[in-house]
Amino acid sequence: MTATVWVPCDAAAVSVGADDVAHALTAAGATVRRNGSRGMLWLEPLVEVETPTGRIGFANVTPEQVGALLSGELHDTGQDVGVVDEHPWLARQHRVSFARVGVIEPTDLGAYREHGGLAGLERALALAPTDVVREVTDSGLRGRGGAGFPAGVKWETVRTAEADVKFVCCNADEGDSGTFADRMLIEGDPFTLIEGMTIAAVAVGATEGFVYLRSEYPHAIRTLRRAVDIAYAHGVLGASVLGSGHRFDLEVRVGAGAYICGEETSMLDSLEGRRGEVRAKPPIPALQGLFGRPTLVNNVLTLAAVPTVLADGGEAYAALGTGRSRGTQVFQLGGNVARGGIVEADFGISLRELVDDFGGGTASGRPVKAVQVGGPLGAYLPPAQFDLPMDYEAFAAANAMVGHGGVVVFDESMDAGAMARFAMEFCAKESCGKCTPCRVGSTRGVEVIDRIRAGTHREANLVLLDDLCTTMTKGSLCAMGGLTPMPVRSALEHWPEDFGAPATASAVARDIPMSATSTDGGARP
Ligand SMILES: Cc1cc2nc3c(=O)[nH]c(=O)nc-3n(C[C@H](O)[C@H](O)[C@H](O)COP(=O)(O)O)c2cc1C
Ligand code: SF4
Repeated sequence: MTATVWVPCDAAAVSVGADDVAHALTAAGATVRRNGSRGMLWLEPLVEVETPTGRIGFANVTPEQVGALLSGELHDTGQDVGVVDEHPWLARQHRVSFARVGVIEPTDLGAYREHGGLAGLERALALAPTDVVREVTDSGLRGRGGAGFPAGVKWETVRTAEADVKFVCCNADEGDSGTFADRMLIEGDPFTLIEGMTIAAVAVGATEGFVYLRSEYPHAIRTLRRAVDIAYAHGVLGASVLGSGHRFDLEVRVGAGAYICGEETSMLDSLEGRRGEVRAKPPIPALQGLFGRPTLVNNVLTLAAVPTVLADGGEAYAALGTGRSRGTQVFQLGGNVARGGIVEADFGISLRELVDDFGGGTASGRPVKAVQVGGPLGAYLPPAQFDLPMDYEAFAAANAMVGHGGVVVFDESMDAGAMARFAMEFCAKESCGKCTPCRVGSTRGVEVIDRIRAGTHREANLVLLDDLCTTMTKGSLCAMGGLTPMPVRSALEHWPEDFGAPATASAVARDIPMSATSTDGGARP
């Protein structure tokens, strides 16, 4: 009997040789099946051999080891991780949106159904649109793209808007540094996204949908396009969704890799074939979005949570989490971390559990100095703050943000001053240029930080930096310029010594007036 072996086709696994391992296994006579990644990225390629007791995983398999793998010689070596479903790293998680990722073949619609897929859509089709929206509202689901806006409120706005045509657009631009959950969901279980978007379309009365997917994700583009074709062939998409009479057409559009095109109105410009530039609100996209029509814009993970919300009911989803942060969040551990990857857990898990228990500290073995949570616009947090629960409000109260759930770890060699400079530099490079506080402020920010670090009129420049940060926060049209001060201020607050600070510098950092201006904040250098 030939062995059945699962080899991930996820880009992260492929980048460390999974395709070569799959070819070697096929050549050796094994039956090879391709799954998404389980999200334990430090173990990739994680090859799973089917046995009567479950799928046994072997870590970091190379093509040269395929013979040993099939003959059983890798059993009981350090590469044998046991039954994968029972691996402590996975068993401690609560996989809801990622329940099927790594388990099934990504474009096997039959397996998708067998593992609970389409139950949410079938229920949605049996309900009135208002009741579908009510389920989403009751679930407490908030947007996973960064802002945490209540999904039900947005859905209801689009549902009640009058128009000849409405759209559902999925934001899969995933530009935040250290984030990869959208990609892994699409590569590992694309039907969940398709089902979520179709439920959304039925609920708000949309007939056309687009997934805006970045060009840097060729594997995801290929997998999603294949899944869309299969969904059409089986009547999940098209003129009559599952025979209900609801039409929903879905297309994958590829962005050209500008960070600002992840901002929803820039994304709509880009989808319309124009250069992505932020639009002033109002009007909000829910009322005048793509081609001026009511448009529901949600992130991949927001939409991927929807099938479960509908299948199990909004209340069941709302029973998970903490405070006003309901359900699960798919955290992404990256940077200098020993065990990086996907951790799906109920909101309320602490940063310490993520970084120390799941992440195992740094990959370098040196002490953790900081984490940046929520992408390039998120705050840098020191270990003293690692007891913060993952909760939108708790993070906001700590001048930080959960964002898209990316957690990037740094060891003690990190230079917080350089990272603050990078935040301004990143903003200068990625700014759409529409408003002055962001376009000009970010360039000036780089210069001011350089002067502070060089010790040139240090205290006056610290005041100027604070003045600039306040202007960017209050005066920018969108969160690109508005949030860039967050990593800058947090770096300065926690590591003033990295800004060329003398012994008293932390006092200086703390004493910066929150609303300093050029007139009350001292002389400009
Ligand atoms: C500069 C910038 C970049 C953004 N990038 C993304 C992104 O890559 N993906 C995303 O879903 N949302 C991104 N957002 C947030 C979107 O504007 C929008 O809030 C989100 O797509 C709405 O979906 P949600 O309610 O499901 O979160 C970005 C916002 C800004 C200001
Ligand atoms: S804040 Fe920056 S990215 Fe946003 S609209 Fe202004 S210039 Fe464009």
